[in-house]
Amino acid sequence: MERLLFIDGCVSQRGPESRTRALAEAFLSAFRETRPEAEIETVRLEELGLKPFTPAALDERDALASIGAFDAPVFDLARQFRRADRIVAAAPFWDLSFPAVMRTYIEHISACGLCYHYEHDGCHGDCGAERLAYLTTGGDFEKPESLGVLYWKQLAAMFGVPRFDYVFAGGLDVDPSKAPELMDAACEQARALGRDF
Ligand SMILES: Cc1cc2nc3c(=O)[nH]c(=O)nc-3n(C[C@H](O)[C@H](O)[C@H](O)COP(=O)(O)O)c2cc1C
Repeated sequence: MERLLFIDGCVSQRGPESRTRALAEAFLSAFRETRPEAEIETVRLEELGLKPFTPAALDERDALASIGAFDAPVFDLARQFRRADRIVAAAPFWDLSFPAVMRTYIEHISACGLCYHYEHDGCHGDCGAERLAYLTTGGDFEKPESLGVLYWKQLAAMFGVPRFDYVFAGGLDVDPSKAPELMDAACEQARALGRDF
């Protein structure tokens, strides 16, 4: 069965009214309609209580990797990421990238020897997903160098995921009266992406 991994980084003071969540829901409902048979696995970043890696914790993880003990709990999230057929991540644009819980999650999935490895010419990805999409909403308008999007684009390449797509609902805090209209257009884009994902 096809497995979609939904990385839920929709941390928001708006709670269920989160605009990022609305974008993610638009994508997911369209995906469910076209692929009712697919399994959607959700990882709620706020509920994981992840801690950033310390040097000691990295030493422990390296020791496990050196004996190929990738079944250890420290690799649970990396194994889940690696086995997904498709991946969608959603988070608001915070401080030019995304909330810190997402950065910490990325530390946990970036397991060398499992999700990627090195060869003489650099990094090679070992993940099975065909596609990765990143959904985000921002107060300011999108810029070509908007980091949340670029970060996930480069992660997809590093993990060996060949196709990357994204939706950026930008400019939402510039003129609040225009926000509903901008969100409608972005949700339509997210639905189109979800339908074809
Ligand atoms: C802590 C924090 C940091 C933010 N940083 C940025 C930023 O760097 N650039 C930007 O364009 N918007 C920024 N915003 C605005 C949010 O990206 C925007 O309001 C977004 O739509 C919030 O999504 P939500 O409705 O899901 O909470 C920030 C908002 C918060 C709360």
